[in-house]
Amino acid sequence: MDEVRVDCGKCGGLLDVAYHWDKLPLPRTLSAFENQWSNRNDPLAFSGVWRFHDLLPFAPRDKVVTIGEGQTLLHQSPGVAKYVGVQQDNLYLQYEGMNPSGSFKDNGMSAAFTHAHSIGASRAACASTGNTSASLATYCSVSRLMKAIIFIGSGKIAYGKLAQALELGALTVQIAGDFDDAMERVRQVTAQLGIYLVNSVNPFRLEGQKTIMLRVLEALRWDVPDWIVVPGGNLGNSSAFGKAFAELLELGLIQRAPRLAVINAAGANTLKELYEDQGIRWNGGNIDWPAIDQFFAEMNESGRRASTIASAIEINRPVNLSKCLRALDVCDGVVRDVSDQEILDAKAQVGAGGMGCEPASAASVAGAKLLREQGIIGRDERVVCILTGHQLKDPTATVAYHTTDQDEFNRVLGSRGVRRATFANRAVAVANDLDEIVRAIQLYS
Ligand code: F0G
Repeated sequence: MDEVRVDCGKCGGLLDVAYHWDKLPLPRTLSAFENQWSNRNDPLAFSGVWRFHDLLPFAPRDKVVTIGEGQTLLHQSPGVAKYVGVQQDNLYLQYEGMNPSGSFKDNGMSAAFTHAHSIGASRAACASTGNTSASLATYCSVSRLMKAIIFIGSGKIAYGKLAQALELGALTVQIAGDFDDAMERVRQVTAQLGIYLVNSVNPFRLEGQKTIMLRVLEALRWDVPDWIVVPGGNLGNSSAFGKAFAELLELGLIQRAPRLAVINAAGANTLKELYEDQGIRWNGGNIDWPAIDQFFAEMNESGRRASTIASAIEINRPVNLSKCLRALDVCDGVVRDVSDQEILDAKAQVGAGGMGCEPASAASVAGAKLLREQGIIGRDERVVCILTGHQLKDPTATVAYHTTDQDEFNRVLGSRGVRRATFANRAVAVANDLDEIVRAIQLYS
């Protein structure tokens, strides 16, 4: 607890936060957490992360850093249910874009920041496809406890996210490379300069992200759904979800885990290739590392780079691979990949049926649809798709999809193999003339 360490000094593997549960005070049922609702003047009870402090008790209450994260909603979406092909009241969307910085990252950042603060860190860094950096910048600017240093790949970050980092005063280092390059560098630089690293290699990040699942259960009145469907990039979220369910099972607070579906973008599908095509499994911790090393050696040789419109998950070397394999084992998981076309169509359906999300988030809905078509998700099963980031994070892709301008569509989306905007809500171009405007409105409404 007193050190800045993200991996094991002996084997180089990632670390886990493990608790002596038998020595800790724990509620007998999950519904006991509802008592916190009546105590919302207490910042820890108000936070959607820290009201579950008993299940992530790594820091004393007075060390916790919270900015009110985790006030997120689980929405039933009949429109998306129809699109996915499940019964009308069986499809739920967990809107993590409602967090202070607009993505699920705040759940984990609050926890990592708490640890960083408790050991007296003055600088914190991350590599990011945009949301981790926006979250770190937010915690630094709101708390004024640390300086944010962020590494991003050049030209690889959506404007909404870059805007956050710049405006909130983070030192922004743009690497001539992609996320995988930036990730490698930030690990070297933080080790060399003694800067606190907040990427999801940091085990405390995952502790905070466990609470996304606790809030899903809470919203379902502690009834475990059949499926959790989540986009997979660096695989922090899926790993955290698996850890949450493993612990709840161990503590007897739930009787079964839901099944977990992790959805890659087709242009960044390392997990899908390893898990589904090559059959790599957790295997009680005895992962077939030689096969994985071989996979990455071939990737290096062929110079293959991640490429998808869902820039948040444009990642080929997920750092949490082994923990995610463990999560897939706990939750009888499946992995799929979906094309950019499928992602953008699903995103349009999410927006039309509710509050909207960024492209990477919609991979969950596209993945649920695919799994339904394949008969793996049943029509009468209850499915929760995690919407990881806010719609306004990446307006470029959204506007291109819905735009009337074919050139703009081709410029932004054509090179990604997106050919159709099936669900486009086109703007109506009309002369600046009252009669024309009135006629257009009568015609289209
Ligand atoms: N969805 C969004 C909106 C994300 O920003 C990310 C990851 C993911 C999904 C994938 O989650 O890594 O836990 O599998 N974004 C990171 C970042 C990598 O730097 O912001 P994961």
